[in-house]
Amino acid sequence: MSDIKYSFGLWTVGWNGADPFGSATRPALDPAESIRKLADLGASAFTFHDNDVFPFGAGEDERRQHIDSVKKAAEETGLVCEMVTTNTFTHPIFKAGAFTSNSREIRRFGLRKVLKNVDLAAEMGAGLFVMWGGREGTEYDNSKDLHTAHARYAEGIDTVAAYIKSKGYDMKIALEPKPNEPRGDIFLPTIGHAIALIDTLDNGDIVGLNPETGHEQMAGLNYTHGLALAMYAGKLFHIDLNGQHGPKYDQDLVFGHGDLLSAFFTVDLLENGTPNGGISRYEGYRHFDYKPSRTEGLDGVWESAAANMATYDLLAAKAKAYREDAEVQAAFEKAGIFESAQPTLAEGESFESFLAEADPNADELAERHEGLVQLHQLALKHLIG
Ligand code: GCO
Ligand code: MN
Ligand code: MN
Ligand code: MN
Repeated sequence: MSDIKYSFGLWTVGWNGADPFGSATRPALDPAESIRKLADLGASAFTFHDNDVFPFGAGEDERRQHIDSVKKAAEETGLVCEMVTTNTFTHPIFKAGAFTSNSREIRRFGLRKVLKNVDLAAEMGAGLFVMWGGREGTEYDNSKDLHTAHARYAEGIDTVAAYIKSKGYDMKIALEPKPNEPRGDIFLPTIGHAIALIDTLDNGDIVGLNPETGHEQMAGLNYTHGLALAMYAGKLFHIDLNGQHGPKYDQDLVFGHGDLLSAFFTVDLLENGTPNGGISRYEGYRHFDYKPSRTEGLDGVWESAAANMATYDLLAAKAKAYREDAEVQAAFEKAGIFESAQPTLAEGESFESFLAEADPNADELAERHEGLVQLHQLALKHLIG
């Protein structure tokens, strides 16, 4: 196996197959057992929601017992807890949102649940706290004041960030965009929306993103472009990798089992950065947030977990060979990829001299052909050759 560090949510392998149309197809898994099994398969880390480990409303003793069992498995296997997140979506109290509920009492309850879980994240040694606002949204546009809803969302995120700072925790927050499901429309539906909200926060310096492959693709967007923008803005704090076939329900397939070409370019960006070096290799965990299909038995759970890592390894090797191929480099040159690194204006160039410059012959310049189909075919050859 490669030196790439892989991580899994305990809720991924732990999913029992229950969906809105059918009941569970598999037994529930003991989180500690999942950690041991993931370690055997070669993963380096795990992540969890509070209620993946202990039930909603658990008393302190019960909570402690469950946490200690997970900690013991982590110590025995050497698996690291790299991220913790909070379930503010399953219990009916959150049916109309947590941070964006119209009810102040529900908002205060949700915020307290999150802050307590920040303490648990610190106890587990996690440097990252993910916030996916699954129920923050609406089915009907008039069911919330859309200004105050965003204000309360921002207030909630800012409060969690301020709490982290007040405690002196070495921890960052990563927001996870999703366009819909379970709400008709979820707030912060895309990477771009989340970056815009972060910009309004007082403590936005420790708030970034956890983009998920399928979530951007559900919105018809290009995941790799979104990752590049987040990295450009210095906001790619975490990733949720999985597979999705275009704008449909959230499929949560194994990474690469959806749009494979897109997965290739995602891995190429994460592993190799951009051709001119503006974005360098992503150093965080390669974290999978997928669901073992409900057609699978327990063997299929572990086969699919292994498939995520194997697919990523394969794509990483292919992306490396693609970048090192002299023919690809020549095609980059022909396409103007390297020229794109030159700023459009010269250093110190005045508006006056810039505007005074004679225009080029537009028809002649329009004759420029960059060989883009050929370049893409080279990528395809590396991918399937
Ligand atoms: C989903 C989301 C979740 C989050 C998780 C972590 O579509 O269900 O992807 O799995 O990633 O709640 O916050
Ligand atoms: Mn998903
Ligand atoms: Mn998801
Ligand atoms: Mn996710």
